[in-house]
Amino acid sequence: MINFRDNVKKMEGYVPGEQPPPGSRVIKLNTNENPYPPSPEVMKVLREFEGDWLRRYPDPMATMAREAAAKVYGVPVDWVMAANGSDEMLALLARAFLEPGRRIAYPMPTYSLYITLAEMQDAATVEIPYDEDYNLPVEGLLAAQADLTFICTPNNPSATVAPVRDLDKLASGLKGVLVIDEAYTDFADENALGLVSRYENVIVLRTLSKGYSLAGLRLGFGVAQPAMLEGLIKIKDSYNVDSVALRLAAAAMSDQSWMKGNAERIKADRSRLAKALEQMRFKLWASQANFIMASPSRGDARYLYFELRDRGILVRYWDRPGLDDKIRITVGTEEQNQILNVALKELVK
Ligand SMILES: Cc1ncc(COP(=O)(O)O)c(C=O)c1O
Repeated sequence: MINFRDNVKKMEGYVPGEQPPPGSRVIKLNTNENPYPPSPEVMKVLREFEGDWLRRYPDPMATMAREAAAKVYGVPVDWVMAANGSDEMLALLARAFLEPGRRIAYPMPTYSLYITLAEMQDAATVEIPYDEDYNLPVEGLLAAQADLTFICTPNNPSATVAPVRDLDKLASGLKGVLVIDEAYTDFADENALGLVSRYENVIVLRTLSKGYSLAGLRLGFGVAQPAMLEGLIKIKDSYNVDSVALRLAAAAMSDQSWMKGNAERIKADRSRLAKALEQMRFKLWASQANFIMASPSRGDARYLYFELRDRGILVRYWDRPGLDDKIRITVGTEEQNQILNVALKELVK
């Protein structure tokens, strides 16, 4: 028999949202991808890519990508680390700070990968519930004093944002490391990047997957003081960012107006979609991300999920306490949102 570690035997593993094969005729509003294409600057670099860049190993430190990111974030380049998606940053943090006997804390519900990562390290989890309005449970998280605290803001799946003053309080009161996962920050009104220069125990995670329309590329960043990054760099794969990704990432970051233009369109469509959902008597939470969490008035979220699926519209549903009366809808193009509206109107009638 294959003898995995006991915790690996017990764990279920992360279940990603459904990814239908390319070319499938579905409206895909289930994994928070950007509905618009990546910057033309990215496509230009891809077209002009030289074979010799593939023959050689990539720059182990992905300097080109980090330099472009440092400029955008307004920090020195040695305060930025690049990884194979922000998921890899999360995994490196779990590997660096968690082991049996150590604890991780996070508010619930949140990005379920955090639980998987804790299970991989066989660490104890402290799950502090959000209240009905998704206020950050600051006191509970402070009382937990975990070795590692993960905060997702805007939070997946609620799309609600944790106020920077709350994160500031956490950063100053926690002895352990505070990870602020800002995967959706390009669609939000505020971010916590400023805390990095004030607290050596804070790391902010960013990704090109959402705002920059590059989920297929796999490129994320960690922004922290060098002492934190030095430890994480020791445990990363030597070549964790490939030659294609680091060049395309630099091109994407250099075209801020493309990303911001698309983010503005998505935010405007998010408002329109929210209004339509409210008219259909869904309960909503104020979204600062490119998705909306919505609870139908009769609590038949599971029914809606399957009915939408039958009509070729994918949204996300979790059969889990606290979430089983809600669906999470990625904001699509105006046309996609309109088709969703029509289908929902018919279903909630
Ligand atoms: C909260 C959160 N963090 C991180 C990620 C992963 O992002 P990446 O594509 O950069 O690995 C996701 C992806 O959906 C997410 O929802």
